[in-house]
Amino acid sequence: MWPANFYKILSFWYLENKRDLPWRKSRNPYYIWLSEIILQQTRVAQGLPYFLKFSETFPSVFDLAAAPEDKILKLWQGLGYYSRARNLHAAAKMVVDLYNGEFPKKYKELIKLKGVGVYTASAIASFASNEAVAVVDGNVYRVLARIFGIFTPINSTQGEKEFNELALLLLNTKDAATHNQAIMEFGALHCTPKKPKCDDCPFQQNCYAFKERAIAELPVKLKKTKVKKRYFTYYIVRCKNELLLHRRGPKDIWQGLYEFPLVVSENELNTEAATKEFNQLFGESADGFRLIQKNQKAHKLSHQHLFASFYEVQLKELPITNMYQKVCFVEIETFPVSVLISNFLESYSF
Ligand code: ADE
Ligand code: SF4
Repeated sequence: MWPANFYKILSFWYLENKRDLPWRKSRNPYYIWLSEIILQQTRVAQGLPYFLKFSETFPSVFDLAAAPEDKILKLWQGLGYYSRARNLHAAAKMVVDLYNGEFPKKYKELIKLKGVGVYTASAIASFASNEAVAVVDGNVYRVLARIFGIFTPINSTQGEKEFNELALLLLNTKDAATHNQAIMEFGALHCTPKKPKCDDCPFQQNCYAFKERAIAELPVKLKKTKVKKRYFTYYIVRCKNELLLHRRGPKDIWQGLYEFPLVVSENELNTEAATKEFNQLFGESADGFRLIQKNQKAHKLSHQHLFASFYEVQLKELPITNMYQKVCFVEIETFPVSVLISNFLESYSF
């Protein structure tokens, strides 16, 4: 019965239920790539306005490659995982330099681009050129695990191999583009993580999880190591109408984004400890040391819980150092910042 029957059921469901999404109207690999990078770890509803912004601001890969990094990060602001934005820029430059701006369409070329992994290369190759490669994202893992009753953990090497082989076996090689879109869409809309629509499902009679009442158990995922807590203490160091900003360096979150001078600790700092740390950074010259916000939660971080506190400090003079730049209050909004800092700025008046 499988695999021909699988595709028949799936494509029939897809024709009736698919969403009308702008990147599905295009076979241009540049637009497809843009949409896939934006949608990595992001829901369609959240990613859609970003896709529209990026494709309007940078209608070709040349425009994107030539843009300053700050402009790209500013447009990206709010999406999180900022290394994706930097990789986007790097990949655009690669396409201009190595392919004269002609965006590759084949898996073998796509996989060499910065920020493009197995899933993304398969998605672009199949959507743009109908190449017979199977996409296996979180949706596909769930759908296959449930229908076929596969208990191998999806985040194990063995699981990756097994699910990939099955996805390829089921793939309708005559229309890989539609097949791949359809199976992802089925997972996103119908066979959802919680409360899948089993009562009204075309796979019901063939679905292991439904017949064996194992929906909550599938897919199986190995538990990750526990999350680490970090405390960020920020200092809004002010003098007249200026304050200090710092551009974050490599090897940590929010690379290239701007923020206030900062101390990072594994335990929470009380005001006394925060003052002490400040004095170590700037000498004992603080005036009007004032706590403004405590333990704001920073979201969107998968492997760490981050808490931030903000102190305002008045100085008679702002120091000149390599670490910090003096910025006028009114200029701040032109700098790319994390969602945490952006939320803070919205609630803070200078
Ligand atoms: N998520 C990732 N890629 C997608 C696509 N092409 N359509 C809908 N959701 C997606
Ligand atoms: Fe998913 Fe339920 Fe359909 Fe099985 S019957 S494929 S679990 S929605």
